[in-house]
Amino acid sequence: MAVYFQEDKKIFHLDTKNTTYLIGMTPEGYIGHIYYGRRLYQEADSYLLRTAEAPFTPSVNKREKLSFLDSFPMEYPTGGIGDYRESCLNVRNPKGQMGSELLYLSHEIYPGKKKLEGLPASFGAEEEVETLEITLEDKILGLQAVLSWSVFEKEDMIARSVRIVNQGKDALKLEKVYSACLDMDNEDYEMINLCGSWARERHIQRAPLRYGKQAVSSFRGESSHQEHPFMALVSPGTDQQQGQVYAMHFVYSGNFLAQAELTQYDSVRMVMGIHTEEFCWNLLPGESFQAPEVILTYSGQGLGMMSRNFHDFYRDHMIRSIYNHKKRPILINNWEATYFDFDTEKLLQIAREAKKCGIEMLVMDDGWFGRRNVDDNSLGDWTVNEEKIKGGLKYLVDQVNEIGLAFGIWFEPEMVSPDSDLYRAHPDWAIQIEGREAAMGRNQYVLDLSRRDVVDYVYEAVAKILRSANICYVKWDMNRLLSDLGSSFLDAEHQKELSHRYVLGLYELQERLVTEFPELLLENCSSGGARFDPGMLYYSPQIWCSDDTDAIERLLIQEGTGFIYPLSTMGAHVSDCPNHILGRVTPFETRGHIALAGTFGYELDITKIPQEQRQMICEQTKMYHAYNDLVREGDYYRIASYRENHKYDVWAVASKDKQEVLVTYVQVLAEPNKHSRKLRLQGFDPDASYRLTGTEQVYSGEMLMYAGFLIECMKGDFVSRLYHFEKIQAEDKCL
Ligand code: GLA
Repeated sequence: MAVYFQEDKKIFHLDTKNTTYLIGMTPEGYIGHIYYGRRLYQEADSYLLRTAEAPFTPSVNKREKLSFLDSFPMEYPTGGIGDYRESCLNVRNPKGQMGSELLYLSHEIYPGKKKLEGLPASFGAEEEVETLEITLEDKILGLQAVLSWSVFEKEDMIARSVRIVNQGKDALKLEKVYSACLDMDNEDYEMINLCGSWARERHIQRAPLRYGKQAVSSFRGESSHQEHPFMALVSPGTDQQQGQVYAMHFVYSGNFLAQAELTQYDSVRMVMGIHTEEFCWNLLPGESFQAPEVILTYSGQGLGMMSRNFHDFYRDHMIRSIYNHKKRPILINNWEATYFDFDTEKLLQIAREAKKCGIEMLVMDDGWFGRRNVDDNSLGDWTVNEEKIKGGLKYLVDQVNEIGLAFGIWFEPEMVSPDSDLYRAHPDWAIQIEGREAAMGRNQYVLDLSRRDVVDYVYEAVAKILRSANICYVKWDMNRLLSDLGSSFLDAEHQKELSHRYVLGLYELQERLVTEFPELLLENCSSGGARFDPGMLYYSPQIWCSDDTDAIERLLIQEGTGFIYPLSTMGAHVSDCPNHILGRVTPFETRGHIALAGTFGYELDITKIPQEQRQMICEQTKMYHAYNDLVREGDYYRIASYRENHKYDVWAVASKDKQEVLVTYVQVLAEPNKHSRKLRLQGFDPDASYRLTGTEQVYSGEMLMYAGFLIECMKGDFVSRLYHFEKIQAEDKCL
């Protein structure tokens, strides 16, 4: 039983395998946070709510209610009435005044977890997850907040969300609805977040928490290249194997805020939710607003445990695709090979060569539709350009299938080029402010997905193409940010709903797509990895990590991505050198080793690369088949980080049963007079022995993990090695 209500003290216990979360209640009905941390097994007490200390609770000491509100560890703080820390809910009444106060009304505990209307969310069977819903009420506004905690015992995860219901007679304005709050006493926490830019997404950043607010956020209309809807607070000295970690991750693909605030009382308030910039939701009587979900976890064994918990959780409770636990076809994408300059014959040449090397799918990227030979036209006109795709799409797909490859295609459905038939027919379908020329990004505008007619048009345009040929894969791209937020559909009152409605429209589109085409392999993408978030994983089992395919930059991007996301979700390809973005030249072998840590594929003109590299592709595709089950399903261990040591990078993936472990070592910089490096590995069974594949060498798991493994330092920069260890049976053991 994961959720338990301790009736005498009015304390809710949320227990997972290794953690306990305690929620308490004051006599007035304020819901407060008592504890989150390692698993507790005894009955609890609520003294941590400090209601016996001055300033007491309002019923005992009304004259200091402000002080109470500003210091009580709230589970869901409201704005306007005297809690000066960041609030989670700001409600404005019809008179234009902002304030709400939520007190306990009722609660319910049930097995399983409900779907969140219109939103991606984690799921689980009744025996996997149990949910606590506490309904709070503001009697004056006639407003209820249904707070929910869904407890996934095995994975040590709690999914939190909030539904706001207007049960009153008046229309209310929700100016802020965050999804989760965690009020804790400070323990010199450090904050970890992921930050970056185009072509360098999700780099890990860590700094001590200072007094005041430290936030990461996006109001670009998507989760963004620059910031990530993730935040962790860790105790000092936390590393991969030890230390306390509190992490929140937002299941949402639009504007967000994640913030930690160190207060005057040395308490920390961590909140997460939809960003308030350009957000205000009109809630009419009888309506409800569902806030997206936050995934919350605690690890008492450092960051490695946090990562593995997230990986298991997303693989089993967020990704729905039938490909989730399956090997994906090795693809070759023509973007970096040809950019817009291709035709049927060119694609078939690539397919023929690719087939010889064991590649399994051809993906036709941008440039196959309308009149698109440069990036300034045709988005929105999803008709095949038969001047390039001679013989039509079906002919091309059939030919590619005949060669023995599956076929995939690129779309950018949310966009419209000013130079397109769609824009000429429906200029009002683009997001823009009346009377003001909207800013373009990559020569394009964003379609107003708050409009039903737009969503229907976009869906049919994509679906029609997919119905017309044997297409197994879609790369769904999104190449500009939202700006000039104006909708021709929404009235003045509702304009501030546009950003959220846009995201809901996007989710509806992808939901329809995966419903009509359940066998489609969908890969999301946004100028590389600007919309790599758990919300998108609900629809697509993989997301393109970054337009930057340089092997060394990928070490940083993939370390940050793998910090939270399963390796099976990370779109990673081998591309040509000099790298198109950085100009760096790295060995083909290293590029392969690094891409093997993701979905794996190629992004180059295979008809032009040297024979020797084609030969290496044959070897790499075999390696993919040998190791992908392990990489996709295994436990991930970060052994060393190039980000920290500036010289080398090491990670390992171990099968759940610890039968095999694959270690990837990348020597970024060669060092003089250094012959070997001793690394303490992880992921082995300490009581077992392992053979290093391809050799007769046998090691004990215990020695490898605690004494170390010697890695020979190689000559040259950017070189890499894979070490595959297999457990040996007792009778083979060397003592
Ligand atoms: C984005 C994607 C690329 C490619 C181009 C095509 O930048 O990230 O992979 O598909 O669009 O225009």
